[in-house]
Amino acid sequence: MKVPTKDHSLRNLQKGGELFGKVKVPGDKSISHRSLLFGSIAKGKTIIEGLLPAEDPLSTAECLRSMGVKISPIKKGEIVEVNGVGLNGLQEPQDILNCGNSGTTMRLIMGLLAGQKNRHFILTGDKSLRNRPMKRVGQPLKMMGAKISGRHDGDLAPLSIMGSKLRGAVIGTPVASAQIKSAILLAALNAEGSTTVIEPARSRDHSERMLKAFGANLEVDGEMGRHITVSPGKDLKGQSIIVPGDISSAAFWLVAGSIIPGSELIIENVGLNPTRTGILDVLEAMEANINIINKRDVAGEPVGDIKVYYKENLKPFKIDDEIMPRLVDEVPILSVAACFCNGISQIKGASELRVKETDRLDVMARQLKRMGANLEEHPDGLTIHGGNPLEGCELDSEDDHRIAMSLAIASIMAISNSTLRRGEVAAISYPDFWDDLKRLQQKN
Ligand code: S3P
Repeated sequence: MKVPTKDHSLRNLQKGGELFGKVKVPGDKSISHRSLLFGSIAKGKTIIEGLLPAEDPLSTAECLRSMGVKISPIKKGEIVEVNGVGLNGLQEPQDILNCGNSGTTMRLIMGLLAGQKNRHFILTGDKSLRNRPMKRVGQPLKMMGAKISGRHDGDLAPLSIMGSKLRGAVIGTPVASAQIKSAILLAALNAEGSTTVIEPARSRDHSERMLKAFGANLEVDGEMGRHITVSPGKDLKGQSIIVPGDISSAAFWLVAGSIIPGSELIIENVGLNPTRTGILDVLEAMEANINIINKRDVAGEPVGDIKVYYKENLKPFKIDDEIMPRLVDEVPILSVAACFCNGISQIKGASELRVKETDRLDVMARQLKRMGANLEEHPDGLTIHGGNPLEGCELDSEDDHRIAMSLAIASIMAISNSTLRRGEVAAISYPDFWDDLKRLQQKN
């Protein structure tokens, strides 16, 4: 007889219990990737404080180390030192570069490597990443002369990049994606002539801010800063960077504090870059009890602490393609919030969610429906009828970090206990999520 093996990844999630106290979310994932990448191609040392010590940035660091960049060990609370090799100094690696689960790693590195002349690179990743679209980056880079190929006509990893001479171009991107934009800007640093990226809507602007700070010749122009031009010819200079807390990780506590009766939280050191704060606008529309205190500027990025208290009778909300780039990673937890609003919430213009670590619209709809949520799935979003009580059940993150954390918050609001499969995947962006949750559930 076959003895069933014990599933060690199954986590018990208890219903109920308010969240109380202070929490400092880990460093911003987008800024962490960029500080490692830009530091690597700068001249001299880059010192990074608050770098996110999670699996995705570790993948970026490992790829860079394989190309000869010296990066000190990445550990919680420790300063990271990157010894830059200059714009054209990356070595041909002896093996395949593994980007793990990280789309940002693969896409930004594509731009970084396209212009490393006469060196050959192969990029791969885990099963999820090997199924995510890469032509959206490869195609514009090819307009600059890049030599990139891969499965499915260059759309899927493993990808092969033969570093070549690049020329500047004017490139309109079909989707507002900071990953596409940043890959082009990175390639532009090594191209002949200037390059302009024109986005359909403005995506997060961490690359623009940081490249300027590193000394790149970069200009932001056009309506809502949608035209970004890089002119080559300037070396990047190593910098000191302080990484603010990730608003996309704070989002779980912002929603939890708003919907779980009796909760009172202070979330410290949250990055408040306006290209990322769409969730705060939605919480305001819901009439949630949110207060930003201690607003300050830290190394070129706005930062603050956020107080959140439980609020009864939250209003339903509508979001569409206009706000989507400012909250694209927060849609899973906002779909949980919608289940507890008083009325019908609409999420539209969210088709990009279908090509994230999982098809997040499909997975959230499926998991929340198992709990008894009343919702409909559309090609580009969800309609969620709030107010239906959720029941505890067997949940599955389907190996997506943001789904795992969103379901953890939903399960607290359920009327019975749940289990969660593959909850450990939270470590992709928030290694201490489960410890922080446990601590905030213990009043005092
Ligand atoms: C990111 C951009 C977003 C976001 C991802 C991180 C970045 O992706 O979803 O988690 O760091 O540039 P898109 O740019 O593809 O929307």
